[in-house]
Amino acid sequence: MQKEFDKLFKEILDLTNVSEKTKNIDGWLEEMEGCALYAIAKFGPAKGAIVEIGSFKGKSTVWIAQGSKSRNREKVYSIDPHTGSVENKPGHKFASHMPPEGTTKFVFLRNLKKYGVYDWVVPIIKKSEDAVKNWNKPIRFLFIDGDHRYKYVRNDFLEWSRYLVKGAIIAFHDYYVWSGPTKVVNKYLRSSSEFSTLGFIKSLALYQYLKK
Ligand SMILES: C[S@@+](CC[C@H](N)C(=O)[O-])C[C@H]1O[C@@H](n2cnc3c(N)ncnc32)[C@H](O)[C@@H]1O
Repeated sequence: MQKEFDKLFKEILDLTNVSEKTKNIDGWLEEMEGCALYAIAKFGPAKGAIVEIGSFKGKSTVWIAQGSKSRNREKVYSIDPHTGSVENKPGHKFASHMPPEGTTKFVFLRNLKKYGVYDWVVPIIKKSEDAVKNWNKPIRFLFIDGDHRYKYVRNDFLEWSRYLVKGAIIAFHDYYVWSGPTKVVNKYLRSSSEFSTLGFIKSLALYQYLKK
């Protein structure tokens, strides 16, 4: 019992530490969602790249990178043009979250440095549909949180899932919050024989790739 307790307690301490850091980063990711991303990056099955689509100011990036860095696992490819989504444009709901310079790139990089993961993240400052054209690595963890419109989430799923290795985990943020990810998960994953449902944590929908 002591061994299990020590292990669990160490994880709780580590999670508390990351939570203290990430709560200072502006964004929409909830704490338990961050814990799930951290756990997958740290203990998730299979080997391969970790890819995040949509990093904004780095909230999810720090959770993921802290997880993989703590066990010296794969670096995180973080894809975002850093120009914000439709909802961040002037006149839209989340416009005030956009820095006055019109890009989240500088805040993002500053947060990676400030929270100790600058060396564990490979920023790709492009739209995911462009970044995938030069991609050729197997992926063991894919986190989709970019443009939330159906057409874009569908494209992210179809284009990037081609690189998933057997046992890889795919996570969608904003399931049942935005219609784009909700429709993609319901249409392509919920009854697919290629994916098994891991579960739902807040608005994260988590699946494991079975084939290949
Ligand atoms: C909801 S935010 C991501 C939040 C982030 N995961 C976090 O934890 O704070 C969506 C991000 O997707 C980015 N984005 C918009 N269109 C994109 C595209 N075509 N490819 C990649 N990222 C995109 C936006 O710039 C924005 O930073």
